[in-house]
Amino acid sequence: MKLRQIRQLIYGIATFMPGVHAFREKAKGTGGTNTAKYCYSIWLRHLVLANKSGLNSHPKIVAELGPGDSLGIGLAALISGSDKYFAFDVIEHANTERNLKIFDELIELFRERTPIPSDKELAEMKPALDQYNFPINILDEKRLTEALEESRIKKIRDAIKNPQPNNEFIQYKVPWYNASVIEKKSIDMIFSQAVLEHVEDLKNTYKSMYSWLRPTGFISHQVDFRSHGTSHEWNGHWTYSDFLWKLIKGKRAYLINREPYSTHIEILEEEGFQKIFDAKNKLKSNLTIDKLSKRYKTMESDDLTTAGVFFQAIIKR
Ligand SMILES: C[S@@+](CC[C@H](N)C(=O)[O-])C[C@H]1O[C@@H](n2cnc3c(N)ncnc32)[C@H](O)[C@@H]1O
Repeated sequence: MKLRQIRQLIYGIATFMPGVHAFREKAKGTGGTNTAKYCYSIWLRHLVLANKSGLNSHPKIVAELGPGDSLGIGLAALISGSDKYFAFDVIEHANTERNLKIFDELIELFRERTPIPSDKELAEMKPALDQYNFPINILDEKRLTEALEESRIKKIRDAIKNPQPNNEFIQYKVPWYNASVIEKKSIDMIFSQAVLEHVEDLKNTYKSMYSWLRPTGFISHQVDFRSHGTSHEWNGHWTYSDFLWKLIKGKRAYLINREPYSTHIEILEEEGFQKIFDAKNKLKSNLTIDKLSKRYKTMESDDLTTAGVFFQAIIKR
């Protein structure tokens, strides 16, 4: 075992002590959505790719799984004209102060029609685009002028300051575990960024997304299948036995579910979705299938080299 794995194992075991994991998980934060540029870049990437696939690039009601440190990606959706944003998480990482700061910075980015921050500016950002100009074909003058109108922006800002259960613009549901937290068939677009690899109950999550989506809606997800620092090799988490993994995970509310891309496709189809686009991030594997633990011995060779994916799906017609 390498040092990194030993550290993860010790931390995992330590979380069985009362209070250790709950305190650290909240204090540590998730990164990513703690900057406006990141949130802006991610929202515009999902929007541009929706447009490219012929999907609705003006979704009225949007929902996000796992917003993390701020609600910034959803706030970017509201700033660019969406009417309502639902956010579902299992830990309340976001807070009003950070949301307001990011909101104000996002307004400036949109007012300036800032180009989409690319990998040169924000390393490792996925999904990749063909080009990073501000998408004036989607966010044209009319749409943005209406969306950025002062009284509208003030209303959204007030909504961030007063997170009420009946808030007109933003609903932050933490923790959520049940589809019944919102109305069925009410959402135009459900998205997530670096979240579905952490979700414990994938089947229930896809089922919930299916029930929330309007018949014309779509889902848009970026998933990272790498080991998240739990092993030396990017795909070394597939070599651990279930018992060792249980110790590494300890009592953390979430770590990674270790499911490869083919599991997502399988559940997606079982739950009534139809994939319409995907872009895989392929990485060389230094491990061969025979080095994997029993559970993964039957893994498809394509999964072994799929380190991430961006995909979109609609309800099967
Ligand atoms: C790596 S962070 C990503 C945060 C953010 N999306 C970003 O791009 O920076 C993973 C997020 O997924 C959330 N999460 C884990 N399990 C979840 C679940 N079952 N449902 C919704 N969110 C979940 C975590 O609490 C955390 O906010």
